Amino acid sequence: MIDTQITKKPKTIAEIHAEHKKTVGQPFCKDAKFSTRNVDVFYGDKQAIFDVSLDVGKHEVVALIGPSGCGKSTYLRCLNRMNDTIDICRVTGQLMLDGEDIYKKSQDPVLLRARVGMVFQKPNPFPKSIYDNVAYGPRIHGLTTNKAELDEVVELSLTRAGLFDEVKDRLHEPGTGLSGGQQQRLCIARTIAVQPEVILMDEPASALDPIATAKIEELIHELKENYTIVIVTHSMQQAARVSQRTAYFHLGKLIEVGDTNQVFTNPAHELTEKYITGRFG
Ligand SMILES: Nc1ncnc2c1ncn2[C@@H]1O[C@H](COP(=O)(O)OP(=O)(O)O)[C@@H](O)[C@H]1O
Ligand SMILES: [Mg+2]
Repeated sequence: MIDTQITKKPKTIAEIHAEHKKTVGQPFCKDAKFSTRNVDVFYGDKQAIFDVSLDVGKHEVVALIGPSGCGKSTYLRCLNRMNDTIDICRVTGQLMLDGEDIYKKSQDPVLLRARVGMVFQKPNPFPKSIYDNVAYGPRIHGLTTNKAELDEVVELSLTRAGLFDEVKDRLHEPGTGLSGGQQQRLCIARTIAVQPEVILMDEPASALDPIATAKIEELIHELKENYTIVIVTHSMQQAARVSQRTAYFHLGKLIEVGDTNQVFTNPAHELTEKYITGRFG
């Protein structure tokens, strides 16, 4: 007689993923800055995010991790409506910032993006001077009334981004002339110049060398005193170094969320465990 318990094949990753219904761990928090529920995202007919519910706490750093193509960037872009800029993209579900629906008709996406700034994988300074890159946002949002005030905002933002000392003698030279790591810090300075409440970072250090990466990570540490940060990262070491909570995505589903140490040392879900032990991804 064949013992079916023994001959039964272990489930494949695809099977485990297909059966997964509910995020394990702690996707919610008491003092939520962002509160998202049942978020689905489609590109045309193709669904990229499936029923994701997640909170981001005030002054918390949350890392989004998972294999390439699992929807990290897509979910991140929901948080400041950057997906609006992609014609075929459709977002459904509830997304609240400080208890207010960010997809409501009266919400101006430009004003939302001033509150929820974004730093991209590839540094993308404007073809303008270092000064004008940082002054851009305060100028278009009318945050300052005179040159002295604007100078102050530029200096403060560059200082907070850990760049001022390196560039103070060449503020009127092009931002594109800086090294990659400096350009990324310039982009962070540009983002914080409009005093956002949240900073979204999509693999902000993946194009940088280890020294520049270390600077960006140090900066994230300092920024978290004043901002809420959601960071997509390819590097589990980086997630472990900078974040308090980690959310693991797999093929568009949010599999597990928890305290970063717990997720990396004692994951609750089989898919998370397979990913962090390097069995796929
Ligand atoms: N602009 C787009 N148009 C169509 N499909 C897209 C677009 N951006 C992402 N996708 C698809 O959505 C899924 C998730 O992609 P993405 O959010 O970029 O994943 P990740 O950031 O985790 O690598 C992938 O299948 C990808 O091909
Ligand atoms: Mg991505």
